[in-house]
Amino acid sequence: MMHLQSPPAQAAPPQSRGRGWSMNPRIRDWHGKRVWVIGASTGIGAATAQLLLDKGARVALSARNAPALQAVAHNHAQALVLPLDVTSSGQVEQARDRLLAEWQGVDLVLLVAGAYNEMRADCIDLDVVDRMLDLNLRAVFRCIAAVLPTLLAQREGGIGIVSSVAGYSGLPKALVYGPTKAALINLCESLYFDLRPQGVGVYLINPGFVATPATAQNDFAMPGLISAQRAAQEIVHGVERGRFHIHFPKRFTNWLRFARLLPYRLYFPLIHKVTGL
Ligand SMILES: NC(=O)c1ccc[n+]([C@@H]2O[C@H](COP(=O)([O-])OP(=O)(O)OC[C@H]3O[C@@H](n4cnc5c(N)ncnc54)[C@H](OP(=O)(O)O)[C@@H]3O)[C@@H](O)[C@H]2O)c1
Repeated sequence: MMHLQSPPAQAAPPQSRGRGWSMNPRIRDWHGKRVWVIGASTGIGAATAQLLLDKGARVALSARNAPALQAVAHNHAQALVLPLDVTSSGQVEQARDRLLAEWQGVDLVLLVAGAYNEMRADCIDLDVVDRMLDLNLRAVFRCIAAVLPTLLAQREGGIGIVSSVAGYSGLPKALVYGPTKAALINLCESLYFDLRPQGVGVYLINPGFVATPATAQNDFAMPGLISAQRAAQEIVHGVERGRFHIHFPKRFTNWLRFARLLPYRLYFPLIHKVTGL
């Protein structure tokens, strides 16, 4: 079990270097920065890892599919391929040890690994529920527990967690996906209280619809759909600005943020009307 050395008594201090203030450390120059992207073999994670490599960061790439990770790392001498399954604590800790042996520290850990599942109340499959909880939620705790001792000892660096706009409020077909993502939003908020006063940043990342293998099977029109490359740019830009809540595309995410503020008697009919579900 891990305890924070000195429980923070105050609210998180704003970052005031440069113009304006930010809620998190800003990374202005990625050159030589050590970033661990977990879930880097496809989609949003692969595009973000690629962008960071292009910007000169040292990037450790993790996921199960080693050849896909090698393909992202191709032509980048500063890439470190660390295959792992996030559902295994042993594999996460082994990869963490290899990363620290190589880099002696880490500046940013991006937890992107996750899966989407469509589920409604008439077809609850408890095996699927367990798998989704393990991948989308427990694995995030596993990764956080693996890297926090290093980040806290450094008193700098940050953790970015990819949740989803599906975590803002209940949506049709998201019976298990939605709760896992809602939990991640809450987790980031809680983490921020503990980590920011210790010098460690927390970045909550909420994408709308992004074209990736995960959404390729969707049989409905996805409002505000963006490419994985655009999502990567939004994530990197958000960290550069030191934002806590990185969400995109704004027209779609702000609409959902507004909807969740409505009283339930208005919220349910609105979502029903928009989705037809
Ligand atoms: N696409 C969207 O519209 C959207 C919207 C909001 C939020 N998100 C979130 O964004 C994240 C990335 O999604 P995506 O759309 O980019 O999907 P994706 O292309 O399917 O990527 C998922 C990533 O997670 C990795 N992963 C899955 N299971 C794993 C495991 N057991 N161990 C290690 N890595 C594992 C996959 O690699 P391997 O299969 O090689 O292990 C892959 O790199 C997810 O958390 C998703 O919920 C996506």
